[in-house]
Amino acid sequence: MANEKHGEPTTQSTSRRRQPLVRSAARARADSVFLRRLRRHHDELRWLYMELYDNGAMFAELCDQMKAFYDDRAEALRRLDEQREGRAWYRDRDLLGMQMYIDNFAGSIRGVEDNLDYLRHTGVNYLHLMPFLDTPADKSRSDGGYAVSDFRRVNPELGTMDDLASLAEKCHERGISLCMDFVMNHTSDEHEWARRARAGEGEYMSRYFFTGDQGLIDRYTRDVPQVFPTTAPGHFTYLPELGQSVMTQFYPYQWDLNYRNPRVFNEMMYNFLYLANQGMDVIRIDAVPYIWKQLGTNCRNLPQVHTIVRMMRMISEIVCPGIVLLGEVVMAPVEVLPYFGTVEKPECHMLYNVTTMATTWNTVACRDTRLLRRQLETVCGLPREHTFLNYLRCHDDIGWGLDYATLSDWGMEEVPHKRYLNEYFQGHAEGSTSRGELYNADPVTGDARFCATTASMCGIEAAGFEGDAAAMDVAIRKDVMLHAYLLSQSGLPIVYSGDEVGQVNDYSYHDDPERADDSRYVHRGRFDWALVDRVDEPGTVQQRLYDALRHLERIRRGEAVFDADAEMRVVDYGDPAILWVERRRDGRTLHATFNFSDEARTVWMPERAAYADLVTGEKDGDLESFELAAWDFRWLLR
Ligand code: GLC
Repeated sequence: MANEKHGEPTTQSTSRRRQPLVRSAARARADSVFLRRLRRHHDELRWLYMELYDNGAMFAELCDQMKAFYDDRAEALRRLDEQREGRAWYRDRDLLGMQMYIDNFAGSIRGVEDNLDYLRHTGVNYLHLMPFLDTPADKSRSDGGYAVSDFRRVNPELGTMDDLASLAEKCHERGISLCMDFVMNHTSDEHEWARRARAGEGEYMSRYFFTGDQGLIDRYTRDVPQVFPTTAPGHFTYLPELGQSVMTQFYPYQWDLNYRNPRVFNEMMYNFLYLANQGMDVIRIDAVPYIWKQLGTNCRNLPQVHTIVRMMRMISEIVCPGIVLLGEVVMAPVEVLPYFGTVEKPECHMLYNVTTMATTWNTVACRDTRLLRRQLETVCGLPREHTFLNYLRCHDDIGWGLDYATLSDWGMEEVPHKRYLNEYFQGHAEGSTSRGELYNADPVTGDARFCATTASMCGIEAAGFEGDAAAMDVAIRKDVMLHAYLLSQSGLPIVYSGDEVGQVNDYSYHDDPERADDSRYVHRGRFDWALVDRVDEPGTVQQRLYDALRHLERIRRGEAVFDADAEMRVVDYGDPAILWVERRRDGRTLHATFNFSDEARTVWMPERAAYADLVTGEKDGDLESFELAAWDFRWLLR
């Protein structure tokens, strides 16, 4: 009545009065969510920050900025955060990842968006987009995008931040998560900070490590191992314009950031939060073991690195708890595990299973599963929350980081063994069908790493070149078996783009002066869409491989024995050519057997019983033993 008297329709007047109220209620709720998260971590975060930097004003600034990034976070992302908070979504067994270079796959970010149907068809629902931030256009100065010149700008050759946001949105609509690299150890020498440092601005020089003291450089060189001993020897790069050297552990154009300076830490955390707010789900922290330097140490995995990663974890849990931190720790297992942190103080959510990857290829070359069994047993003995990203190949070389103490007990010494592996995979050793190239062969230590695609390492390139159908059968079988073995492990399996269609090495980089010095480009070829066309032609290499992998992935999604929480163990089977993995869940047991040898083997089951073959779908009511062809596998469920 009162409203009518004032001549105002009831609904309008209430909505007018309510709107700001509703908005402020939503805001109050959001603020309280932020405060709850901040309160949870504040004391520890402050403690660690002050321990490292002893700078209250900079800590206060960090807290203000966290709130600002939280306020900026899109509503849809905040909702996702709430759904994911406290739930280890990245451990779901239906996740299947792929890593790809945007330009190789589809030219640009929009091109990727246009080809999401293909990705959906492959079954991929996690996409790692290789570095796409601004980087020098000259490829000999970009390290494949790992030399970032602007953390807030997309490489214009690939698109814009808006394209990225649009891709993220489309991916989320289709249930695809996105991963990107956060290259935090260094910037490109074309980054604004580096330019200003080079111009002699002290504030910016203090963000890197400058020295004119040759004695210090020599000491450093004595204590710290080389990352790229042949392609980029040395740890410092001399800048004639300043008469000083700057620390460059990777390439001379990648300047190491000085995390002793709180300004560097704060600014890099703001960059991290900015990128998280673009709709990323997983942030891969690149080369993280290297971020803290201390003269007199080997400058790897120092305690301060863990302090920084722990702070980063808390910062992300306060602002964007849906984000997963994936640590790139390419180190020996004893160095890798601490990056998970502890149950009370976790650091990374997920780590690369690098030792398992290298040991797998060692097993292929030696046709002896003993070292792999040990390695998998070690992984099985870890807390189940420790989640690994499993892979056969990635964009980098394979460094032969194996358990040489054990190999030496078995009579295999490190240097000759590495030499054998490199000979084998180049196709020079007896019985090898692999093709590929060495990487950073060090004439001083005799050390070398290796580059090639999965298909080339399995013999698909050689068999195709020689037109040898029988050899091709074996090569495809080996490739499929290795993927079945990959999918038999707990954790997130990642396929390298092109592997699903058996893409082989690309030697064309030799003719490109900007890339010719870096043999990793041999497995970073342009995605060959002509191979995709052959997927539908029965009997082609591509169809056989692609369909087999799809089938395996579907089985993995459908069977609870593949859960991350399933019990996994390695069976100590008498024949060293056979790898036997057992997974148990809900009273059912998967017996996954793999023949890592060039001859067929008879495999004996633990007892005569009924088993279902998950791949053929057939049931054998009374199975005691079976023949396993060379490089074949079986998934038997009981
Ligand atoms: C990581 C990347 C590698 C790059 C290096 C330096 O190890 O995987 O490709 O060269 O970091 O950023």
